[in-house]
Amino acid sequence: MKILVTGAVGQIGSELTLELRKRYGANNVIATMHRTPPSDELKESGPIEKVDVSDKEAVRKIIKKHKIDTIYHLVGILSAVGEQKPDLAWHVNMTGLKNVLDLAVEYKIKKVFWPSSIAAFGPTTPRVKTPQRTVLEPTTMYGVTKVAGELLCQYYFEKYGLDVRSLRYPGIISWKTAPGGGTTDYAVAIFYEAIEKKNYEFFVSKNTILPMMYMDDAVKATCDLMAAPAKNISVRTSYNLTALSFSAEEIAKEVQKHIPELKVSYKPDFRQKIADSWPQSIDDSQARKDWGWKHEFTLAKMTKDMLDNLKAECNKF
Ligand code: SER
Repeated sequence: MKILVTGAVGQIGSELTLELRKRYGANNVIATMHRTPPSDELKESGPIEKVDVSDKEAVRKIIKKHKIDTIYHLVGILSAVGEQKPDLAWHVNMTGLKNVLDLAVEYKIKKVFWPSSIAAFGPTTPRVKTPQRTVLEPTTMYGVTKVAGELLCQYYFEKYGLDVRSLRYPGIISWKTAPGGGTTDYAVAIFYEAIEKKNYEFFVSKNTILPMMYMDDAVKATCDLMAAPAKNISVRTSYNLTALSFSAEEIAKEVQKHIPELKVSYKPDFRQKIADSWPQSIDDSQARKDWGWKHEFTLAKMTKDMLDNLKAECNKF
């Protein structure tokens, strides 16, 4: 197996790449990035390349050079940045995906993974236990690119038989690489600020509830989906996926169990409107049925693991 990971320096890419290298051999996983420099861990653990995914010929060169047969296309502009720069979000998210899908057909790539998101849903979607098949009328540019991308993936599967698989990730919480420019970022930022400043000001209200997941579970879900037999994959747009749903206040209280001095306040900004347009909880029973999805981390277990790891990181310096 020769794997290409685009967006390997992003929040998910930086951890998924390392897991893929562990599972399939370090030299079989080519990590690519555009402007952000790779971490030492990523650089030292296997091959890296620089590429702009909106440049089709540049991506082609890498596929040919490394005889790629599997692609994890993770590059994407997230929701909050996408609202500041909608043209950029469309360009990177759509042109990048179309280039990857076209090249995947041309070079007979065996499997492609592409992430969708809870952002594919919108204010007209049922907000509680959102079903797999439901109304998709997002109000952010990020969400628009996710719905269009999901349909494009399904189209390439139907028309060209391309084995493309996708997950609608909830907010992902992790300690290795911070997320960049998303609406769910508060659920990560609180951990950093709790340790460094004992003070955190949420940019959403305390009653804001969104679906979330710890990175370990997100990496596991991605690997499990990609390892499942093709005949089990009944959804070719993107699978609903979730682990936890909690309010801003609930995560604050959980962190305060470990750091009682932590003070929190709430000052909603433009991201509140985005959060309010997304579901509070997700029905991911199709993923559980088709390929055995099962999450491991509860809010309590995740909070402890996050704080242990972040504290260990701080102590290194
Ligand atoms: N975490 C993402 C965001 O907030 C959702 O996919 O934009």
